[in-house]
Amino acid sequence: MRTQVGIVGAGPAGLLLSHLLARAGIESVVLESRSRDHVERRVRAGVLEHPTVELLREVGLGGRMDREGLPHDGVSLRFAGEDHRIDFADLVGRGIVVYGQQEVVKDLIAARLADGGDLRFEVSDVTVDGVEADPVLGFVRDGRREELHCDVIVGCDGFHGITRPVVAPEVADRQYPFAWLGILAKAAPLHHELVYAHHEDVFALYSMRSPEVTRLYLQVPPDTDAADWSDARIWDELHRRLGTEINEGPLIEKGVTGMRSFVAEPMRRGWLFLAGDAAHIVPPTGAKGMNLAIADVRVLAEALESFLRRGDERGIDAYSDTCLRRVWRAEHFSWWMTSMLHVFPDADAFQNRLQLSQLRYTVSSRAAATSLAENYVGLPHGSV
Ligand code: APR
Ligand code: PHB
Repeated sequence: MRTQVGIVGAGPAGLLLSHLLARAGIESVVLESRSRDHVERRVRAGVLEHPTVELLREVGLGGRMDREGLPHDGVSLRFAGEDHRIDFADLVGRGIVVYGQQEVVKDLIAARLADGGDLRFEVSDVTVDGVEADPVLGFVRDGRREELHCDVIVGCDGFHGITRPVVAPEVADRQYPFAWLGILAKAAPLHHELVYAHHEDVFALYSMRSPEVTRLYLQVPPDTDAADWSDARIWDELHRRLGTEINEGPLIEKGVTGMRSFVAEPMRRGWLFLAGDAAHIVPPTGAKGMNLAIADVRVLAEALESFLRRGDERGIDAYSDTCLRRVWRAEHFSWWMTSMLHVFPDADAFQNRLQLSQLRYTVSSRAAATSLAENYVGLPHGSV
């Protein structure tokens, strides 16, 4: 078997890449270890930056997002018992759309399948060989070992995938002394926008998915087992920490998300490229993960088109450096939001006072609020 681009992983990065390549007349095969159902149900963050929204519309994926997504013109930071709204529309003239990552994934799978795209779910034992000269993906499907020869392989297999070790990049890594316990509840959101709440002994986040579903997060210790948190305990803590009215409802989902900053450099070795979580992770404060994955594959799809159709290697040679500029901007923003809003278990009085001062400055200075807004709604692609 042969294809132009062999893609490992059917998350937002792998699926969108295959969609963009198909639009450019380039064939690809996507290999995914999980089932279609699993991939479509996996609950992740749900904030689309403005450049992500524009790109999805531009490439024919905006239909359901525009009907069902929730456009937001701002977020609130809550601390010392008060809400402070950051008005994106006023500060930067753009906003975000709240639309779950799994909805984007469903739309992408539907679009690829309608187009005759080659998506192979439930494959196992994926291997990558010959990345310097003759790239080959190996995998097992329905009990049979197969080989797929490719011009180029792209690792879109997330943080725990098998492609990053093949690139053997340098890594920058930071872990945080807390995690998020996230729930999805069948309860009508009472607030129209997200609330990032810095309570004196912990952080909580109020978000939503639809007029019927609320998404909520609590800062918890990093080794937390979600099973130790009963529904009643979760609601009690949310009421206490958010300090604001919330509707309760049956939980649809409950899980713990680790907090990590991680960047692999370079994002390429030979004919193997990395994109999305396979190459970098941000802590979820600011919801940059999927947006970064999408920005990577936009750059890569254009570069691969120039290379595979015209033999022009400039784009693929610049790919890693181009993406890493945006990646590091998002790393800084996510680290900064995380540091400003969470309660660090070992913080002393000095650090706590600095943190409060930073929060006050961010909501009271138009310059500081504009910087938050500009990063949150997403810097234009190609601008950093
Ligand atoms: N073989 C085949 N598929 C694999 C393998 C493997 N060895 N290892 C992992 N995968 C699949 C996973 O099952 C998953 O479906 O690769 C996919 C990676 O998808 P994501 O983790 O969603 O990563 P990405 O597409 O880069 O999207 C980034 O995901 O983690 C979130 O917050 C992050 O929103 C961000 C987004
Ligand atoms: C979410 O709605 O899941 C969400 C929103 C904002 C974040 C992270 C997650 O910063």
